[in-house]
This record gives sequence, structure tokens and C-alpha cells, in this order.
Amino acid sequence: MKHAEPGANSTKSLYIRTYGCQMNVYDSDRMAEVLAPLGYQLVGEPDDADMVILNTCHIREKASEKIYSELGRLRPMQSDKAARGGRMVLAVAGCVAQAEGAEMQRRAPFVDIVLGPQTYHRLPEMVARATRAAGNRVMDTDFPVRPKFDDLPERSSANGVTAFLTVQEGCDKFCTFCVVPYTRGEEYSRPAGEIVAEAKQLVQAGAREITLLGQNVNAYHGAGGGGGTWSLARLIRELADIDGLARIRYTTSHPRDMTDDLIAAHGDVPQLMPYLHLPIQSGSNRVLVAMNRKHEVADYERTIDRLRAARPDLALSSDFIVGFPGESRRDFEDTLALVERVEFASAFSFKYSPRPGTPAATEMLQIDESEKQQRLSELQSLLSSQQDAFNQAMVGRTIPVLLEKPGRRSGQLVGRSPYLQPVHALAPDRAIGDIVDLSITARHANSLAAQPLAESSH
Ligand code: SAH
Ligand code: SF4
Ligand code: F3S
Repeated sequence: MKHAEPGANSTKSLYIRTYGCQMNVYDSDRMAEVLAPLGYQLVGEPDDADMVILNTCHIREKASEKIYSELGRLRPMQSDKAARGGRMVLAVAGCVAQAEGAEMQRRAPFVDIVLGPQTYHRLPEMVARATRAAGNRVMDTDFPVRPKFDDLPERSSANGVTAFLTVQEGCDKFCTFCVVPYTRGEEYSRPAGEIVAEAKQLVQAGAREITLLGQNVNAYHGAGGGGGTWSLARLIRELADIDGLARIRYTTSHPRDMTDDLIAAHGDVPQLMPYLHLPIQSGSNRVLVAMNRKHEVADYERTIDRLRAARPDLALSSDFIVGFPGESRRDFEDTLALVERVEFASAFSFKYSPRPGTPAATEMLQIDESEKQQRLSELQSLLSSQQDAFNQAMVGRTIPVLLEKPGRRSGQLVGRSPYLQPVHALAPDRAIGDIVDLSITARHANSLAAQPLAESSH
């Protein structure tokens, strides 16, 4: 029943395209689950879909602009389907929808539904309203008092052996460059019991690794049992007791919330993987103040030293912004010097992108595009040489790899090292979901090659 009226109880096809951070990946999975009882089943292409959702990201200008070009591609598909007597419901979700929903309705009036990151549990009623009559438009970008998590279905699928689980959302930190506090709303931590239950459902559905997600995940302070509040470390210790859950990760952390108990957990919770994404943004104290990061470079390095004392093989990753308003060449060189001192296993770096409504966007001292590009290239070449060195140091070592999916070649499986490196292995007798000790034989541009040891499965 391909051309069934949306709302009818037949099978309908749903295409979701996800942009931005892992939290959007989690939200897209959840939207699919919310729509499944209406008969929507996920498909891999938008062309003839009964419903298309773009789950969007507003973090940098390029991310936002992509959405309008994607809508431009979808519009003829929507018209085609209408010409054939069908209907493609087009929804824009996520952070662009939240930030500029009204403008989007003007710029792209053929979009049926505009919804923010906190309202997707209401998708069934939005679809019903949008499809009641031709030309109905729905916009729901509330920040409801009752969190969406209370109304989401149980997890019946983990989408593979590694799963995401949002434990904390929103942000109260208001870094002067960042849209997240406006698009995701204020900080909210889910109750611990709810998270443990969801983690168990995911493990039951086949997950062997769970990555706990939050815009400031280490600021987590959810209600625990018995009236108290649990920290992220306390939550991780509880999750580590779940049978079958072999690996735990968390992202993204803020340096200010790297507490003693979390650092200690890196030393003594074996399931907590030795890889940490800890964004610093800049190596200049002057710039950190202007960014409202509320910590200094020395605080960050002290935290790294303590983490490495707790877990000597900890691999570190970070985010950097170059060309923040007022960033001098000297400030930028301080960032390079910090990178030289810390040595990152991987990192993301971006040119500063002025975002509407954020304080830094109206600063007078914006940096030239060509200067930003120059600084980005310099920083990226330093970071990629550190990443290469880190990967190269794995060659000849034996490391446990969680096998995640089939590779492109026959008999090949692809997995991840504890340090999050993709590993390609010829291991035809191993199963997806196994954690296998593999001997690393070579380093490629973005991955490692490996071969199994005899009798090494555990
Ligand atoms: N909560 C995380 C970051 C979320 S956004 C944290 O506090 O670190 C992910 C990354 O995007 C940021 O770490 C930052 O490096 C980058 N970013 C955010 N806003 C940006 C902007 N306006 N221009 C360029 N990069 C930006
Ligand atoms: Fe954005 Fe700063 Fe909050 Fe991270 S801590 S989400 S960068 S405002
Ligand atoms: Fe982008 Fe929103 Fe995530 S702006 S980075 S999708 S929180």
C-alpha cells in the first residue's frame, strides 16, 4: 500500500536524514520509534517516501544552509508524489527548526511540520493535524515542562552493537559563540532509574557498548533512588553492573565538570573506555574569557594530568575554534602550543562561525575569512600529525576490538579499538558483537588493519 493516506493503519515509508551531533542521531532513532505504531517503516532513500524528516543542526552557518538546499531537492519529489495521487509529509526537526522555525515556514512553505528537539514525542498528533487537510501547516517548537522522555516508547531495537543513550540535555553555560542553550533549552538530567532501564533494554536488544550522551554530559545530576542525586560517575558505576554491557563511553564533556569521582571512575571502572572527548576551544586564556568558558588553560592541563594519572593509556580528543572575534596571532599560537603539550589522539577544529542571537556574533573584531582559513589549516596539520602518530603507535600491538559490522571485502569485519579507532580485520570466523584481541598490522589514513590471534575471543 505505497500510496496510502497518512494516518491510515497501513505500512508507510519514512526517511530520516540526520545532521549534527550524536544527540540528533539518538533523537532520529526515537522519532522512528514514535512513528512506528502509525505504520511508518524506515527506508534508505527519500524519493517515494510517505514521510521525510530532516533532523537538523544549527551549530555553524554551513550546517544550517545545507537544510535549505536539501529542501530544494525534496520539493520536486513531494510534487511528483502528489501528481501521482500520493502525499509526502515533509518535516523539519532539530536545532534549525527550533532556532528559525517561523522563518523556515516563510522560506519553505511546502514544509508540513516544523518541530523542535523537545517535542518529537508529539509527532503522531502533528502528523494527524498536518494530514487532516491539504495545506495544513504545523509548528511545535515548545519547551514543554513535562520532558519528552516521559512519553517515549521502550527501546525495542539497539540498531547494532553500539548504542547511544541521551542522559542529559540542554545547556546553561552560554558560551558566547554557541547556539545550543537556545536550541536545546536549559539543562535537564533524566532520572537515573529511567536511564538504567533504557540501558537494560538496549543490551537486551543487542547493544554491547553504550555511549551516554549530553550537551554537557558530565554535568549530569539526575534523581537517584531514595531521594538523592546521582553524578555521572555514580551512574556509570551502576551501568557497569549490567550483564552483557562490555563498554561504556560518554560525550560531550565540559572541562569545568570533570569531577574527582569521574576522574576516579576512569581509573577503576574497566568498562569505561580509555577515550575522552574534552573540548577546550582555545589555548589562550584571553580567548577563553571572551568565550565565557569559565576556566583557564592551566585548569584544563591539570585535569588532563589527573586523568592520565588515573588511566595512563587515556586517549584524548577535543574541539577547537579558530578565528574567534579578537583572537590575535599570539592567541592562536597559544592554541598550537597547548596542542603540542597535550598531544591529542584526535580532534575537531572549526573556523568561528557567527551565529544569530549569540553575543560573539556582534563583536566588532571579527577575523578575516582568509586568516581564519590559514589558522585552521595550521592547526589541522598539527592535529593530524598527532593523530597519525597515535595510530602508528598501535602497529604491532594487540588490542581488544569490538566487532561492529561487516566490512567491504568478504570475510572482513569492522570494529573499534578501546580508543575509538576503526579497525578492519579479516576474521571470517568471528561474529558481530564479539570483542576479539587483534594484532594491529598496519595503519591506513583513518583506520587500522588487524589480524586475529589464535583462540583469542572473550
Ligand atoms: N557542549 C560541547 C560542544 C557542543 S557544540 C562543549 O561545550 O564543548 C560542538 C562544537 O562545535 C563545540 O565544541 C565548538 O568547538 C563548535 N562550535 C560551536 N559553536 C560554534 C561556532 N559558532 N563556530 C564554530 N564552531 C562552533
Ligand atoms: Fe555550547 Fe558552551 Fe553549552 Fe557547550 S558548554 S553546549 S559550547 S554553550
Ligand atoms: Fe547541532 Fe543541535 Fe547538536 S545545533 S551540534 S544538532 S545540539
